[in-house]
Amino acid sequence: MKKLTVSTRFFDYDIFVMPKLIQNVASFLDVQKTYVIITDSGVPVSYLTTLQSQINVLYTKIIPQGESSKSMNQYHEIIEELIHHEIKKDTFILALGGGVVGDLAGFVASTYLRGVPFIQIPTTLLSQVDSSIGGKVAINSNTAKNMIGQFYPPLKVLIDPSLLHTLPPRQIANGFAEIIKIAAISDADFFERLEKGFIVEELEDIIFRALELKKRFVEADELDQGIRQALNFGHTFGHAIEQYYHYDEYLHGEAVAIGMVLIVSSEEVKSRLRKILTKYQLPTECPTSIPELYPIIQRDKKSTRHQFLAIDVPQIGQFIIRPFGVLSKGAFQ
Ligand SMILES: NC(=O)c1ccc[n+]([C@@H]2O[C@H](COP(=O)([O-])OP(=O)(O)OC[C@H]3O[C@@H](n4cnc5c(N)ncnc54)[C@H](O)[C@@H]3O)[C@@H](O)[C@H]2O)c1
Repeated sequence: MKKLTVSTRFFDYDIFVMPKLIQNVASFLDVQKTYVIITDSGVPVSYLTTLQSQINVLYTKIIPQGESSKSMNQYHEIIEELIHHEIKKDTFILALGGGVVGDLAGFVASTYLRGVPFIQIPTTLLSQVDSSIGGKVAINSNTAKNMIGQFYPPLKVLIDPSLLHTLPPRQIANGFAEIIKIAAISDADFFERLEKGFIVEELEDIIFRALELKKRFVEADELDQGIRQALNFGHTFGHAIEQYYHYDEYLHGEAVAIGMVLIVSSEEVKSRLRKILTKYQLPTECPTSIPELYPIIQRDKKSTRHQFLAIDVPQIGQFIIRPFGVLSKGAFQ
């Protein structure tokens, strides 16, 4: 078992990484407490029943799988059901699922009764290495992603890499995009290791290293006002590509993969990125002309009125944050 502690402005929380953790989840949770589980219809039922059999669950909510569940309607429905089941402040909300479940359940936990305790059991690679750490919780507005949210750290994150054996290869690749991203901006040795490929037995180590690296950014800048923005490497174009295709063509990691290749200025880094992303079954070519993406980038919540920040990687393991483009004049530097 591996353990990592993350400090926040409120409290420190532990992340545990252990194969087959779900089968012993009771030893990581307070069995005297009561729980609400939020999960989705795509998470294998056996994970849910394994969890339910070990703790005192007052209520389980299974939402439809997919990004459209991160909505105001779904949020409202859950809140009403929590009220109906008379869930009180001392009950824990437990997210069992990928980033959709984690973001939605976290937002519910952060607002219901002005905040109830929240625990993440991420079940996709992307959520195990990225969305479950850092405390960002959110739902989407009708027109834009993650527009309604806040920082609300979990009390604990329980990561079981063996849950990934049911995850489709495309979703594994999706998670690797974020692993490659964090290696590219902060750890050249880790990037080199990834370049060699991996075997399943190494997954626990790879997940843990990605978490160690992300921890540095979120601890240094919990509220995302400075250095944490480096984690957006590839995301400006990535978000725009996702949105341009109405979120039904590219997975987040796939769009970020293309975004990383687009934004780097060093030809050497670009070439290494192309190679590694291809190796991990990720796309590298922008499917549309870049100016088509400008209006979307301009609406990005991280852009100011006239410019957005570009995260560039001058050499593997390093990043720079710089203003990029003067969008109102249509220029692109
Ligand atoms: N909060 C953050 O910091 C942060 C960071 C990155 C992404 N996100 C958010 O995360 C979301 C994407 O998360 P995701 O990529 O995990 O997608 P997801 O949550 O939609 O999960 C992908 C699919 O895999 C299924 N699934 C989950 N676990 C499974 C398992 N073990 N076996 C088989 N199927 C399984 C789900 O039902 C779903 O259909 C987006 O909404 C994004 O905005 C949040």
